Amino acid sequence: MSNNWIERADKVVMNTYGRQPLVLVKGEGCRVWDDAGKEYLDFVAGLAVCNLGHSHPDIAKAAAAQLTQLVHVSNIYYTTPMVELAETLVRLSFADRVFFANSGAEANEGAIKLCRRYSREKFGPGRHRVISALNSFHGRTLGALSATGQEKFHQGFEPLLEGFKFVPFNDLGALAAAVDGSVCAVLLEPIQGEGGVCLPDADYLKDVRRLCDEKRLLLVLDEIQTGLGRTGKLFAHEYYGLKPDVMTLAKGHRRSGRGLRPRRACQHLRGRAGHRRRGQGRRGTLKRRKVSGGGPGQRLLCAKGAVPVARQISGN
Ligand SMILES: Cc1ncc(COP(=O)(O)O)c(C=O)c1O
Repeated sequence: MSNNWIERADKVVMNTYGRQPLVLVKGEGCRVWDDAGKEYLDFVAGLAVCNLGHSHPDIAKAAAAQLTQLVHVSNIYYTTPMVELAETLVRLSFADRVFFANSGAEANEGAIKLCRRYSREKFGPGRHRVISALNSFHGRTLGALSATGQEKFHQGFEPLLEGFKFVPFNDLGALAAAVDGSVCAVLLEPIQGEGGVCLPDADYLKDVRRLCDEKRLLLVLDEIQTGLGRTGKLFAHEYYGLKPDVMTLAKGHRRSGRGLRPRRACQHLRGRAGHRRRGQGRRGTLKRRKVSGGGPGQRLLCAKGAVPVARQISGN
């Protein structure tokens, strides 16, 4: 069999990405090596995934230990890494509960579903739209793509899901004008990443928070790119003096997505625990029914590795 990995890949791997002609085989910290042994400085970090670099000993140790213990179980069981990771995230953030998924896109899907469900149960039907920003990026699954405010990502996949409106980032007037009786939530990256590293004005996010409170909308911050220490603070919203209702994270936790959500939305849903439906968790929270659905319920390896990542990044 040929050692020309690129030629072999071109025959069998779908060409959905414009890949660099590099076959990477090894990494250590911020350095990676190709299949010819050439060393590179890795400024990409898996597109903001490897917060602690490659082959971090604590992550490797935790993952190896988990592999010798338990590999995968269903969401219908509790596991210890699930609890440990959720406790760590809750301790380090504003939130009091965590929803685990497989990726950032799925974390955003979960957040959108949470907002719709919360709004429906609290205010009744017809209030399902989410306002997000032009130039935003929220992921490539159909729902997250529909929330993404960049046409280039939509092309060829239409029709997208109904229920999203877009306004310019950093424009409170445009956001206020877009709010009507059909809207349940605002979804923003605190600092736009994919859209070109666009910072908000100093008071923008605080003003958005105020508007959401006035209009009884949930504020979701997508911190998949900015969270877990990437901007210097653990979460970018800490710079701007506000707390969202829901925050989505991924990447830095070895690519398994988490939606963090606080009491307000959850308690309402939890209060309806007696009305458990198919696909709904025991406590009435949004739990999608998937055999290999993400998170430490099943992705024990991810979870085991993610606890040391969160602790190291936060310093406690
Ligand atoms: C802000 C933001 N949200 C969501 C995503 C999607 O995350 P994932 O690739 O883990 O699905 C990304 C990925 O780049 C992102 O930057």
